[in-house]
Amino acid sequence: MFLFHSILFLILTYECNSARIFSIFYVQSYSHNHLALTLLTELAERGHEVTLLTPFVPKDVVKNLKVIHMKFPPKSVDTQVNPFDVKKMTLFERIMFIEQYGLNEMEVVFNVTEVQTFLLENHHFDAVIFPQFVSEALRGFCYHFRAVCIGLSPVILNSMSGRPMGNPFHPSYIPNLFSPFSDRMNFFERFHNTIIVTAEMLFHHFYVLPRHNQLLQKHFPGAPHINDLYYNTSLMLVNTHVATNFPVPLVPNIIPIGGYHIRPLSKLSKALQDYLDDARDGAIYFSMGSYLNSADIPNDKLNAILNVFRKLKQKVLWKFNGNKLTNLPPNVKLGTWFPQQDILDHPNVKLFITHGGLLSTMEAIYHGVPVVAIPFFGDQEMNAANAENCGYAVVVSYEELTENTLQTAVDEVLINPKYGNIARRRSRIFHDEPMRPLDKAVFWIEYVIRHNGAPHLRTTALGLTWYQYLLLDMVLFIITVLFLFLFILKKLLAKLFRKNTTSKKTKLKTR
Ligand SMILES: *[C@@H]1O[C@H](CO)[C@@H](O)[C@H](O)[C@H]1NC(C)=O
Ligand SMILES: *[C@@H]1O[C@H](CO)[C@@H](O)[C@H](O)[C@H]1NC(C)=O
Repeated sequence: MFLFHSILFLILTYECNSARIFSIFYVQSYSHNHLALTLLTELAERGHEVTLLTPFVPKDVVKNLKVIHMKFPPKSVDTQVNPFDVKKMTLFERIMFIEQYGLNEMEVVFNVTEVQTFLLENHHFDAVIFPQFVSEALRGFCYHFRAVCIGLSPVILNSMSGRPMGNPFHPSYIPNLFSPFSDRMNFFERFHNTIIVTAEMLFHHFYVLPRHNQLLQKHFPGAPHINDLYYNTSLMLVNTHVATNFPVPLVPNIIPIGGYHIRPLSKLSKALQDYLDDARDGAIYFSMGSYLNSADIPNDKLNAILNVFRKLKQKVLWKFNGNKLTNLPPNVKLGTWFPQQDILDHPNVKLFITHGGLLSTMEAIYHGVPVVAIPFFGDQEMNAANAENCGYAVVVSYEELTENTLQTAVDEVLINPKYGNIARRRSRIFHDEPMRPLDKAVFWIEYVIRHNGAPHLRTTALGLTWYQYLLLDMVLFIITVLFLFLFILKKLLAKLFRKNTTSKKTKLKTR
């Protein structure tokens, strides 16, 4: 009997503690993949059974994490994203471009053999974790497995991740993700932002969602309309932290977990350790991230960068892929890969020159290193504007990158102690938390699974029509009542006035 009870107990606790989690990440970028793997690995290590479909093949995978490789067809050259082209687009063109990219990728995802086979097999999952990044149709998996729907936003909170949760998104102080604005906008920036935020909302509602719905209905026959799934997301984990990004209001089922990808430090290799230890005048780390190849930077800009470095007494570590550098100054060391987080932690590193990617910016601030940002595309311009606004960075726009502008920016950050001080202050904010962001992410995932999707966290905003939400019906009602009141008042006064004058007239006559 005791044995029976023990076994029952074990089965029950196993049932409660271990969930089956399905995840699909499609964006072929290092940062998206890194963010997904960090979270899913942690979940697997805590005993959950995790299945991940991804176009990447990770090197080593923990025990409970099953990775299925989605073999995407090779991209034809003309459909490949060229960051230099995106840079030339207007803000609205960029939004259309990224939404269209998402729609195209969804077609590819649902068409790969691995996904189709998987959908035909008999699987059961308690939760689905998908990237909230122009990927609305992926919510079909939540419907297919009748599982709790959890989004992971690889970028900071924005209209894409806030809208399905009914989060307020006020254009007066929250800039569009692809804009070059921070949360402090002047009159014209606010005007631009208001137009863009409104246009993006209408475009998403009338163009993007219907197309995702077509995909959804095609690949998940019998699925409800996408709106019913889109506005039924149980949890949104967003890659935002107040140490690096401006504060915004959040509904209770949006959980900021910014910085969760930051791993415990490892020891630097002996060569790197010696190199940085010997940098008596300080060192600069320079990396344009994983998307932009240094080899793609045109010669004039490359020479400008080299000329600036040549004049510095600091040593420079440059993450460089390409082999067209001949006149390398002696204080510059190139490498195709560097352990970025460990380098940023070295006390001699005084400056990080970056493309302003979110993960890089977070790592810089986590380790208290000020930044010169050369933003390129996507959310980088907004991240950079925000970093400059916070006071830990100077921005050099890529178009204006010359020897002169770069020199001024680098000197400013190296000489003016303000930047380092603010970076270190923000680093202390980053570290001052009740729990690690990764623990927080895991807690909330388990929470919404435990509470069957946690509908109690959803705000009523999701059930209102747009005119109720914007109080337009109230405005209309109040204006109508006011006009009615004024109209009646006017009629009454007119009547009284007429009576008075007529009675006066009659008095005059009788005299
Ligand atoms: C789907 O895949 C097949 C081959 O597996 C290919 O011929 C077809 O063009 C693909 N369709 C789309 C929309 O990618
Ligand atoms: C909405 O989510 C809840 C909780 O995950 C689920 O029980 C419900 O079926 C979902 N509704 C729709 C229309 O998918």
